[in-house]
Amino acid sequence: MHLSSAIVSLAFAFLALGQDVSIAAVKKAFTNANIPTDLDIVFEPTALLEVSLPQTAGPPITLHAGIHVPRNDTAGPPTFHVAGNVGKGPFVVATVDPDAPTPQAPTSAQIRHFLGGNFVLNNGGLLVNSTPAISEFRQPTPPAGSDAHRYIFLLFKQSPAFATQTLVNSSTPVQLFNISQFASAVDLGNPIAGTFMLVAPAA
Ligand SMILES: *[C@@H]1O[C@H](CO)[C@@H](O)[C@H](O)[C@H]1NC(C)=O
Ligand SMILES: *[C@@H]1O[C@H](CO)[C@@H](O)[C@H](O)[C@H]1NC(C)=O
Ligand SMILES: *[C@@H]1O[C@H](CO)[C@@H](O)[C@H](O)[C@H]1NC(C)=O
Repeated sequence: MHLSSAIVSLAFAFLALGQDVSIAAVKKAFTNANIPTDLDIVFEPTALLEVSLPQTAGPPITLHAGIHVPRNDTAGPPTFHVAGNVGKGPFVVATVDPDAPTPQAPTSAQIRHFLGGNFVLNNGGLLVNSTPAISEFRQPTPPAGSDAHRYIFLLFKQSPAFATQTLVNSSTPVQLFNISQFASAVDLGNPIAGTFMLVAPAA
């Protein structure tokens, strides 16, 4: 084996260790970070949502719940995999920041960082969407001086009502979004998987 491929293998081994591997651990991390309370959601995941952020140099960063990611590595757009028996879809993925502008006074939260539907699972477990997202991915931009924000990715089974909803479109302000209110209004039920990262302001 060439040294370079040994290094690549090592990097992949490290990434495999980095991602979420336990539903119970993800649930615990959400609870420890107070996410179910702050988002007003019931979080009883039945699968793992793997979120990977592509990097300009090197392999993607795959999140595990609660990972700190340098702001500069969060440009995205992320790719999504599901591990678990969830059926083929369709699914909705939502990403919210409940900590804007600061966790202490989140007066503009939640910020909608991503909202997309019509995701289906391909054979590799990759989630692929057949329609443009409602809100394309916005890179985390916590303001200078703020503590790190939580960026929370949630996977829902898509409801018929989601396809015809008119509550949110691509020109709806991303501020003051409320994922539990939205999920309830369009019958998404509770999320079936999720993960989150912490991102501090750029140095
Ligand atoms: C941040 O990302 C840009 C573009 O990917 C890169 O050119 C730059 O070197 C990075 N800066 C740091 C401090 O890593
Ligand atoms: C988005 O929704 C608003 C409010 O319902 C509506 O006025 C606007 O026309 C919609 N925009 C698009 C692009 O559908
Ligand atoms: C979101 O809406 C729910 C009701 O569905 C409410 O209980 C909660 O306080 C709202 N969250 C925010 C941050 O406004």
